Amino acid sequence: MDADLTMVLQHKAINRWRLFWLIAIPMSIVMVVETFSVDLTVAPGVTAMIAFSVRWAVPFIFLVVATSALQVLFPGPFPAWLLRNRKYIGLCFAVAMAWQGLFIFLMSNFHREFYFDEIYLLRDELEGSTGYIFLAAMVVTSFQFGRKSLSPKQWKLLHTSGLYFLWAYPFSVYWFDLFYYDNPQPIDYVFYWSGFIAFALRIAAWGKKRQHAAKKIALEYNTPLVFRVSGAAIIVFGLLLSATGLQWQDLATQFVTGPAWSANLSLWLPFWPFEPFWSLFFIGAGTMLVTKTRTQVEQEGLRSPAT
Ligand code: HEM
Repeated sequence: MDADLTMVLQHKAINRWRLFWLIAIPMSIVMVVETFSVDLTVAPGVTAMIAFSVRWAVPFIFLVVATSALQVLFPGPFPAWLLRNRKYIGLCFAVAMAWQGLFIFLMSNFHREFYFDEIYLLRDELEGSTGYIFLAAMVVTSFQFGRKSLSPKQWKLLHTSGLYFLWAYPFSVYWFDLFYYDNPQPIDYVFYWSGFIAFALRIAAWGKKRQHAAKKIALEYNTPLVFRVSGAAIIVFGLLLSATGLQWQDLATQFVTGPAWSANLSLWLPFWPFEPFWSLFFIGAGTMLVTKTRTQVEQEGLRSPAT
């Protein structure tokens, strides 16, 4: 079964550039067709296209975020296919974002009044522009001519931080749709939870790797009970936070942005005070505790009177 799937997933038509064109061309056709159903001469029509195009982009960035974790947690033909094609899936994200960029350009050029009255907010502008700067740099350095101007360390730093930023932006948008604004749409739930799961998988994969690393150092290792229990409790707390934003968002934001310096930061610093990410922060901290192993070597060291 796995062998059959591996064979299918190795077919040229669904790998590398062919996969890219297979997705990018129909997606662009859909984008053009959709423009006929809106009125681009008025600002709400352009706004609708901005939202429409970015909804095509989001699944790709979430998939890229989850890819390496899927390979660690559930190795198999499908995660291997994703990993092989990660760059091309990332480029499909870039194509959809280029469409969004085009509609943003139309908005800011031809509907300037609407743009500055209804949309412009310094903090959103900084977040969005940073996102596009990361995107452009990542696209250019995905090709040999751009890649060679960076050392492998710089390339990794750029692509990891860009990936996190470009995941964080839509994830936080949908978090606010669910837990701040009224009337979330069903698609907001789908995107919020997909973004959450994509990142949670990364945390789980990181935990698994920590355990493997500990196993390499010593055949016998254990996690002290106190770490396991407190780590699990912190993970459960993080999971609760992830689903209950409506219950705590208002109070928590008021509290955290109470001091003047913090309120000031929230005017311009992207994502500050990071409410959408608190749940994942706790899940990460809990995972760190649950996978904190005291290796046999350490235990011997603790028991030995000579040390
Ligand atoms: C300066 C750059 C940007 C500007 C001016 C901008 C502007 C907008 C506007 C006007 C909307 C529609 C809001 C509405 O429906 O009322 C929107 C939605 C959205 N944008 Fe951006 N954006 C920018 C960059 C980005 C970036 C880099 C991302 C990252 C992926 C992003 C992700 C989103 C998402 C997820 C939505 C919500 C779509 C939905 O309704 O489902 N934007 N943006």
